[in-house]
Amino acid sequence: MVSSNLTDTQSHDRLSTTDRDRTGQTDFPIFTSHPELIYLDHAATSQKPKQVIDAMSRYLTESNGSPHRGAHKLSVEATRLYDIGRKKVAAFIGASRPEEVVFTKNATEALNLIAYTYGLSTVKAGDEIVVAITSHHSNIVPWQMVASRTGATLKFMYVSPEGDFLPGEWDKITDQTKLVAFPWVSNSLGVIHDISGLIAKAHAHGAVAVVDAAQAVGHLPVDVCALDADFLVFSGHKMYGPTGIGVLYGKHAHLEAMPPFLTGGDMIEYVEEQSTTFAAVPERFEAGTQHVEGVVGLMAAMDFIEHMGITRISEKEQRIARYAVKRLSELPFVRVYGPREGHDRGALVAFEVEGIHPHDLASILDDRGIAIRAGHHCTQPLMKSLGIMASCRASFSIYNHVGEVDALVEGLHHARRIFGYEHG
Ligand SMILES: Cc1ncc(COP(=O)(O)O)c(C=O)c1O
Repeated sequence: MVSSNLTDTQSHDRLSTTDRDRTGQTDFPIFTSHPELIYLDHAATSQKPKQVIDAMSRYLTESNGSPHRGAHKLSVEATRLYDIGRKKVAAFIGASRPEEVVFTKNATEALNLIAYTYGLSTVKAGDEIVVAITSHHSNIVPWQMVASRTGATLKFMYVSPEGDFLPGEWDKITDQTKLVAFPWVSNSLGVIHDISGLIAKAHAHGAVAVVDAAQAVGHLPVDVCALDADFLVFSGHKMYGPTGIGVLYGKHAHLEAMPPFLTGGDMIEYVEEQSTTFAAVPERFEAGTQHVEGVVGLMAAMDFIEHMGITRISEKEQRIARYAVKRLSELPFVRVYGPREGHDRGALVAFEVEGIHPHDLASILDDRGIAIRAGHHCTQPLMKSLGIMASCRASFSIYNHVGEVDALVEGLHHARRIFGYEHG
């Protein structure tokens, strides 16, 4: 876990309500198209740096071909780039070999792949699947499917409004548990879970650990070997890359033992009229024509992150998130969810404004050029367990700055004036 080196006092000293430092935004053409845009919705999807847009455009302009299928130069080049992409992802997340990286459409597809293959082939009636309540629907619904098809029991580990697991919740992981699934960073509360501890606890009971790193990759350093994660998933579009490309990391031994997910072209070894032998991993899990421009964009996104430096990105995001929590907590009409002030959190803050529905607030802020997310954030079981109908969420990235938090706070006062709670 990376935390800010700045103490609260130091960071507060550096902050200014007139801070219009646009550091980081010059790389992002969206801010040229929309100079007044305050984009606080990175957690939903990130804006794309010019480097990513250019790399994809260059590939489509100069090198487009169908990988793995042709003998001509364009096909060979597409194959080369696709294979380099796999190696680059493996190095980026600390996988021990490129074959442990499977390209998917997104984190959701990666989780479904695990559920339909590993889940359905290993989980049996009477087994238990334990899921953190902080999980996104993408990391809940597939396990509901596995439980209902196999007769296994699905259990949840509950948290406080600050995102801490309630006492005894980890004890739900027992020798009956076959699989434990959880997010690294909650997209709703911003809490950073102790995933090393959860993985160790799962392994102590012979269960596999599935880490949803959709809100962690691009924000925190990732080393799947050091974590000893069995599976880890993420989406390219939340880490400055394009939509349509995601990653499933799986330990080689697990992937080797798993049956295919989707079937068809390019995932086969040999096809007879009535039967098929399948390709080795990872191709076994990548049926159909591959999303090469997506991989090219993802490579450029990883280059961008490496160029910026993950520590620098993380420190900047932490600084903005801490400042946001501080400013919002000072407002008596705002309730902030997630880790308390001064505690580590992911690059987001969820909050509620008394008397104003989150959707109304999001629309009013949008009129001022401020983009936030409002709703249940695809975490309905979490919201229900905490008694929250909906919340607003501001999320941050390298292209944000503290002045935008001040604009958000001013936007909240503006909304209260519209609703008649404040005057003047
Ligand atoms: C924690 C988490 N997991 C999974 C997802 C699903 O990502 P995708 O829609 O890219 O598959 C999201 C998206 O918001 C998320 O925040």
